[in-house]
Amino acid sequence: GLKIYHKKLELIQYINVLKSEFKTIGFVPTMGALHQGHLSLVNFGLEDNDYVVVSIFVNPTQFNNNEDLEKYPRTLDRDVNLLKTVSGNKIIVYAPSVEDIYEGNTVSQSFTFDGLEHEMEGAFRPGHFNGVGTIVKRLLEIVRPDYAYFGQKDFQQLQIVKKLVELHKIPTEIIGCPIFRASDGLAMSSRNERLKPEYRAAAPFIYKTLKTAKEKFGTKSAKAVTEWVAKQFKNHGLLKLEYFLIADVKTLKPVKRKSTKKTYRAFIAVYADDIRLIDNIALN
Ligand code: PAJ
Repeated sequence: GLKIYHKKLELIQYINVLKSEFKTIGFVPTMGALHQGHLSLVNFGLEDNDYVVVSIFVNPTQFNNNEDLEKYPRTLDRDVNLLKTVSGNKIIVYAPSVEDIYEGNTVSQSFTFDGLEHEMEGAFRPGHFNGVGTIVKRLLEIVRPDYAYFGQKDFQQLQIVKKLVELHKIPTEIIGCPIFRASDGLAMSSRNERLKPEYRAAAPFIYKTLKTAKEKFGTKSAKAVTEWVAKQFKNHGLLKLEYFLIADVKTLKPVKRKSTKKTYRAFIAVYADDIRLIDNIALN
């Protein structure tokens, strides 16, 4: 059945056995409170690999808000049961303690990611990507997977992790996976569970606005689309826009003048009550 490890040394021992048998290993890092978005990554991993390691660890170094860290849902038993329904035999759960991972030193390493870290989430959540870089690097060194799967839901994180393995020559291929949405369009997120009913009902407005912004970007400038989006949220009673911008997928810098040679994506962060929601959409 499904194996679960709380200690890295025991996990490493088991992974050494699998590697000696030439098994391929996929990896899906998570912070738990698993939903269908996470499970879609696990399924991509199962298609490509003999085994998939799923880590479940609420990483303290990537939270810039202590309250957010404390309120983050921790539902290990439920998460493990959910993974058993996907595949009991090929999934290995790594659910470490803070001590097992950080060994008493919960200070982030400082990273540069060719400037990707200064944009969007990096600007609004100081220190966040140093925390993500620290934990992802550590987890990749422990698990040593052939492939690791990240959601485009956190598109900037995905690009930063690709940069991390490139700059640090980590021998894992990073695979970006599509955003999994609820039937009303809201991108799945562990934070959705905390939305009060009226805010949950309002939240699909975010993706609806992104889809219209995409349409408008066909004929209008990035500036005109950005102003249009700001106006949609201006008079919204429940959702507060933190940022909307259209950026080049490579640099994540806001587009100045549209070029047919570049690939663009629109990115958005919104507050629903005190809960911060992010989403994004490919434009061309
Ligand atoms: P977490 O928010 O739990 O997300 C784990 C992975 O699931 C990430 O790669 C994220 O992009 C992906 N994911 C979340 N919601 C998704 C959705 N609706 N569709 C597709 N993929 C989705 O991201 C983190 O944890 C952490 O930063 C982590 C990488 C684990 C480092 O601590």
